[in-house]
Amino acid sequence: MEIKYNVSLKPLHTFGVTVFAKEMISFGNTETLKEILHSKSTDKKMVLGGGSNILFTKDYDGCILKNEIPGIEILSQNDDVVLVKAGAGINWHSFVLFCLEHNLGGVENLALIPGNVGASPMQNIGAYGVEIKHVFHSLTAFNIDDKTVVTFSNKDCRFGYRESVFKHALKGKFVIIDVTFTLQKRPVFHTAYGAIETELEKMKVKDLSIHAIAQAVINIRSSKLPDPAIIGNAGSFFKNPELHEDQYQQLQTKFPAIVAYKTENGFKLAAAWMIEQCGWKGFRDGDAGCHIHQPLVLVNYGNATGEQIFSLSEKIIRSVSDKFGIRLEREVNIL
Ligand code: FAD
Ligand code: EPU
Repeated sequence: MEIKYNVSLKPLHTFGVTVFAKEMISFGNTETLKEILHSKSTDKKMVLGGGSNILFTKDYDGCILKNEIPGIEILSQNDDVVLVKAGAGINWHSFVLFCLEHNLGGVENLALIPGNVGASPMQNIGAYGVEIKHVFHSLTAFNIDDKTVVTFSNKDCRFGYRESVFKHALKGKFVIIDVTFTLQKRPVFHTAYGAIETELEKMKVKDLSIHAIAQAVINIRSSKLPDPAIIGNAGSFFKNPELHEDQYQQLQTKFPAIVAYKTENGFKLAAAWMIEQCGWKGFRDGDAGCHIHQPLVLVNYGNATGEQIFSLSEKIIRSVSDKFGIRLEREVNIL
């Protein structure tokens, strides 16, 4: 167990702000994690995966636990489904590529989402009509308080839109060790999300496959989302607000062009549209900005501080609230 001191977090998170952690320890298995938690039980600590959903607004005055648990394993299979377990430290897109290589359907719409498998249940990652709750079987996690390993079923995780129990009642209490997914040998294709159909047509795809869908998603994502290797960001900074039908109808009467999608419980508003209507799209103040193609994404053009990006997010929340009466909620974890 090697403890590193005064560690730069700049290369370890996708916003790329200049911040330091007092200490950092990497772990690649449960035994090392147990050892760390035993020796550091009273210290402030947090788990870090790929750092793609975090904004550091100041130095981290504690110990970063860098999750590097490896391994992808096929646990069992029948004629229809295959259970695959992946270590929390596996890069999410590498896991998607593993599934594609083995012709296993279910995660193709989630291609190219940054970050690691271990964080995927934290906010029930989702894109292009699919969320991990649709393929999630179970996870094992380490209880920081009583040092036991616990299994969580799909129901236990209480998944919602960008939500799980790990962001609420169990926040900071568990370290996710591995996640098991149920994948399909005979996949059901999800192409209803408008842009996918259009992209598949552009690609002139004749025989629909999970590989074609993954490529379509990769093409769409690459065309509008900034690559964190070039421009710092953490994907959507805000969630798309969800409204009950009557609230939505009132808003729609006032703003007939408002963009929204029907959901099980009402309507989901496109926050990108509201932010653009408030004039923020392409806005830049120093190195903190609102992306030119996707205003839901706040960006660091180089030397913005976490505080500057946070302060920009405050201004956006205020102006959207003033114009539409809707309070945007941040999706990114603020530290
Ligand atoms: P981190 O940022 O390292 O951590 C996120 C949170 O989870 C932190 O609170 C951390 O403490 C906690 N955590 C991490 N690992 C563990 C663990 N093993 N056990 C316990 N807690 C843990 N998200 C989507 O849902 N859909 C998208 O389409 C999408 N697109 C994106 C596009 C870009 C360009 C970027 C930069 C981000 C995007 N995101 C998207 C957000 C991000 O990719 C996901 O939230 C991802 O799951 C974060 O994984 P991570 O490993 O980087 O987590
Ligand atoms: N729009 C505008 N102006 C813009 C961009 C978009 O008005 O400049 C409107 C358009 O009407 C568009 C709508 O917003 O149809 C939705 O845009 P998009 O399809 O790009 O998706 P999003 O709602 O902005 C969500 C997720 C993304 C996910 C995509 C695809 C959230 C908070 N964001 O974005 O997730 O990749 O859908 O499914 O739900 C993330 O969580 O980090 C993330 C990138």
